[in-house]
Amino acid sequence: MNASDDQAVLATIKADAAAEKDTVRVLERTVAALKAHVPAYTWVGIYILVEHAGAHELVLGPFLGKPSPHTRIPLGQGICGAAATSKATIIVDDVNADPRYLACSLETQSEIVVPIMDGPRVLGEIDIDSDRRAAFGPADRELLESVAALIAPRLLDYRPLEP
Ligand code: SME
Repeated sequence: MNASDDQAVLATIKADAAAEKDTVRVLERTVAALKAHVPAYTWVGIYILVEHAGAHELVLGPFLGKPSPHTRIPLGQGICGAAATSKATIIVDDVNADPRYLACSLETQSEIVVPIMDGPRVLGEIDIDSDRRAAFGPADRELLESVAALIAPRLLDYRPLEP
Protein backbone atom coordinates (compact mmCIF):
# COMPACT_ATOMS: atom_id res chain seq x y z
CA MET A 1 0.00 0.00 0.00
CA ASN A 2 1.36 3.45 -0.85
CA ALA A 3 -0.07 6.95 -0.75
CA SER A 4 -0.80 7.30 -4.48
CA ASP A 5 -2.55 3.90 -4.55
CA ASP A 6 -4.60 5.06 -1.55
CA GLN A 7 -5.65 8.15 -3.50
CA ALA A 8 -6.79 5.94 -6.40
CA VAL A 9 -8.91 3.76 -4.08
CA LEU A 10 -10.39 6.84 -2.43
CA ALA A 11 -11.25 8.33 -5.83
CA THR A 12 -13.02 5.10 -6.86
CA ILE A 13 -15.04 4.96 -3.64
CA LYS A 14 -15.87 8.67 -3.84
CA ALA A 15 -17.15 8.37 -7.41
CA ASP A 16 -19.21 5.32 -6.55
CA ALA A 17 -20.69 6.90 -3.41
CA ALA A 18 -21.77 9.90 -5.50
CA ALA A 19 -23.15 8.05 -8.54
CA GLU A 20 -24.54 4.68 -7.40
CA LYS A 21 -28.18 4.82 -6.31
CA ASP A 22 -28.20 1.60 -4.31
CA THR A 23 -26.55 2.10 -0.89
CA VAL A 24 -25.94 -1.62 -0.36
CA ARG A 25 -24.04 -1.72 -3.63
CA VAL A 26 -21.91 1.25 -2.53
CA LEU A 27 -21.06 -0.61 0.68
CA GLU A 28 -20.35 -3.86 -1.18
CA ARG A 29 -18.02 -2.13 -3.61
CA THR A 30 -16.28 -0.25 -0.80
CA VAL A 31 -15.60 -3.54 1.00
CA ALA A 32 -14.36 -5.14 -2.24
CA ALA A 33 -12.10 -2.18 -3.10
CA LEU A 34 -10.48 -2.24 0.35
CA LYS A 35 -9.98 -6.01 0.40
CA ALA A 36 -8.41 -5.96 -3.07
CA HIS A 37 -6.22 -2.98 -2.15
CA VAL A 38 -4.42 -4.51 0.84
CA PRO A 39 -3.47 -8.21 0.97
CA ALA A 40 -3.21 -8.08 4.78
CA TYR A 41 -6.92 -7.17 5.02
CA THR A 42 -8.20 -10.71 5.57
CA TRP A 43 -11.77 -9.84 6.58
CA VAL A 44 -13.44 -6.55 5.65
CA GLY A 45 -16.96 -5.65 6.73
CA ILE A 46 -19.30 -2.75 7.45
CA TYR A 47 -21.58 -2.68 10.47
CA ILE A 48 -24.62 -0.38 10.61
CA LEU A 49 -25.76 1.06 13.94
CA VAL A 50 -29.49 0.45 14.40
CA GLU A 51 -31.94 0.99 17.22
CA HIS A 52 -33.88 -2.13 18.08
CA ALA A 53 -36.32 -2.43 20.98
CA GLY A 54 -34.91 0.74 22.51
CA ALA A 55 -31.29 -0.45 22.42
CA HIS A 56 -28.58 0.29 19.90
CA GLU A 57 -26.73 -2.51 18.20
CA LEU A 58 -24.33 -2.97 15.32
CA VAL A 59 -25.80 -5.03 12.48
CA LEU A 60 -23.42 -6.61 9.97
CA GLY A 61 -23.88 -5.40 6.41
CA PRO A 62 -21.71 -6.27 3.40
CA PHE A 63 -18.50 -8.16 4.19
CA LEU A 64 -15.82 -10.26 2.50
CA GLY A 65 -14.01 -13.07 4.30
CA LYS A 66 -15.20 -15.98 6.39
CA PRO A 67 -18.76 -15.71 7.73
CA SER A 68 -18.75 -14.14 11.19
CA PRO A 69 -20.94 -15.36 14.06
CA HIS A 70 -21.15 -11.73 15.18
CA THR A 71 -23.89 -10.41 12.92
CA ARG A 72 -25.39 -8.26 15.70
CA ILE A 73 -23.20 -6.67 18.36
CA PRO A 74 -24.65 -4.73 21.31
CA LEU A 75 -22.87 -1.45 21.98
CA GLY A 76 -21.22 -2.67 25.17
CA GLN A 77 -19.53 -5.67 23.51
CA GLY A 78 -16.41 -6.38 21.50
CA ILE A 79 -13.89 -4.08 19.95
CA CYS A 80 -16.67 -3.01 17.59
CA GLY A 81 -18.88 -2.00 20.50
CA ALA A 82 -15.99 -0.18 22.17
CA ALA A 83 -15.23 1.84 19.02
CA ALA A 84 -18.88 2.84 18.67
CA THR A 85 -19.04 3.85 22.34
CA SER A 86 -15.79 5.83 22.28
CA LYS A 87 -16.56 7.25 18.79
CA ALA A 88 -12.92 6.74 17.86
CA THR A 89 -10.83 4.37 15.78
CA ILE A 90 -9.43 1.40 17.69
CA ILE A 91 -6.37 -0.55 16.53
CA VAL A 92 -5.58 -3.82 18.30
CA ASP A 93 -2.14 -5.27 17.46
CA ASP A 94 -2.82 -8.61 19.16
CA VAL A 95 -6.48 -9.55 19.47
CA ASN A 96 -5.69 -12.53 21.71
CA ALA A 97 -4.30 -10.14 24.32
CA ASP A 98 -7.43 -7.92 24.32
CA PRO A 99 -10.21 -9.12 26.63
CA ARG A 100 -12.80 -7.11 24.65
CA TYR A 101 -12.19 -9.13 21.48
CA LEU A 102 -15.07 -11.20 20.04
CA ALA A 103 -13.50 -13.92 17.89
CA CYS A 104 -14.58 -14.24 14.29
CA SER A 105 -11.84 -16.58 13.05
CA LEU A 106 -9.04 -18.46 14.82
CA GLU A 107 -6.51 -17.07 12.32
CA THR A 108 -7.21 -13.41 13.15
CA GLN A 109 -4.28 -11.68 14.86
CA SER A 110 -5.02 -7.95 14.65
CA GLU A 111 -8.00 -5.66 14.00
CA ILE A 112 -8.94 -2.07 13.20
CA VAL A 113 -12.41 -0.61 13.76
CA VAL A 114 -13.20 2.83 12.31
CA PRO A 115 -16.49 4.53 13.24
CA ILE A 116 -18.52 6.08 10.42
CA MET A 117 -19.70 9.39 11.86
CA ASP A 118 -22.23 12.14 11.13
CA GLY A 119 -20.83 14.87 13.36
CA PRO A 120 -21.13 13.45 16.88
CA ARG A 121 -23.45 10.60 15.80
CA VAL A 122 -22.20 7.08 15.02
CA LEU A 123 -23.83 5.67 11.85
CA GLY A 124 -21.78 2.50 11.53
CA GLU A 125 -18.27 1.13 11.37
CA ILE A 126 -15.65 -0.26 9.04
CA ASP A 127 -14.20 -3.38 10.67
CA ILE A 128 -11.07 -5.08 9.29
CA ASP A 129 -9.28 -8.18 10.60
CA SER A 130 -5.85 -9.41 9.60
CA ASP A 131 -4.13 -12.76 9.96
CA ARG A 132 -0.93 -10.77 10.55
CA ARG A 133 0.03 -9.49 13.98
CA ALA A 134 0.07 -5.65 14.19
CA ALA A 135 -1.05 -5.27 10.56
CA PHE A 136 -2.58 -1.81 11.03
CA GLY A 137 -0.71 1.49 11.37
CA PRO A 138 -1.24 5.22 10.87
CA ALA A 139 -1.55 4.89 7.06
CA ASP A 140 -4.40 2.37 7.44
CA ARG A 141 -6.12 4.62 9.96
CA GLU A 142 -5.83 7.61 7.64
CA LEU A 143 -7.10 5.68 4.61
CA LEU A 144 -10.03 4.09 6.45
CA GLU A 145 -11.09 7.30 8.23
CA SER A 146 -11.18 8.96 4.79
CA VAL A 147 -13.29 6.08 3.43
CA ALA A 148 -15.63 6.36 6.42
CA ALA A 149 -16.13 10.07 5.71
CA LEU A 150 -16.88 9.35 2.04
CA ILE A 151 -19.58 6.76 2.72
CA ALA A 152 -21.11 8.45 5.79
CA PRO A 153 -23.62 10.54 3.76
CA ARG A 154 -24.99 7.34 2.25
CA LEU A 155 -25.85 5.96 5.69
CA LEU A 156 -27.84 9.00 6.83
CA ASP A 157 -31.11 7.59 5.49
CA TYR A 158 -30.13 3.96 5.23
CA ARG A 159 -31.64 1.32 7.50
CA PRO A 160 -31.15 -2.44 7.05
CA LEU A 161 -34.42 -4.16 6.12
CA GLU A 162 -34.54 -6.52 9.10
CA PRO A 163 -35.70 -5.14 12.46
N1 SME B 1 -13.82 -8.84 16.41
C1 SME B 1 -14.98 -8.01 16.50
C2 SME B 1 -16.23 -8.76 16.13
C3 SME B 1 -16.50 -8.78 14.68
S1 SME B 1 -15.68 -9.99 13.84
O1 SME B 1 -14.25 -9.66 13.88
C4 SME B 1 -16.13 -9.92 12.27
C5 SME B 1 -15.09 -7.41 17.91
O2 SME B 1 -14.34 -7.78 18.79
O3 SME B 1 -15.96 -6.57 18.11
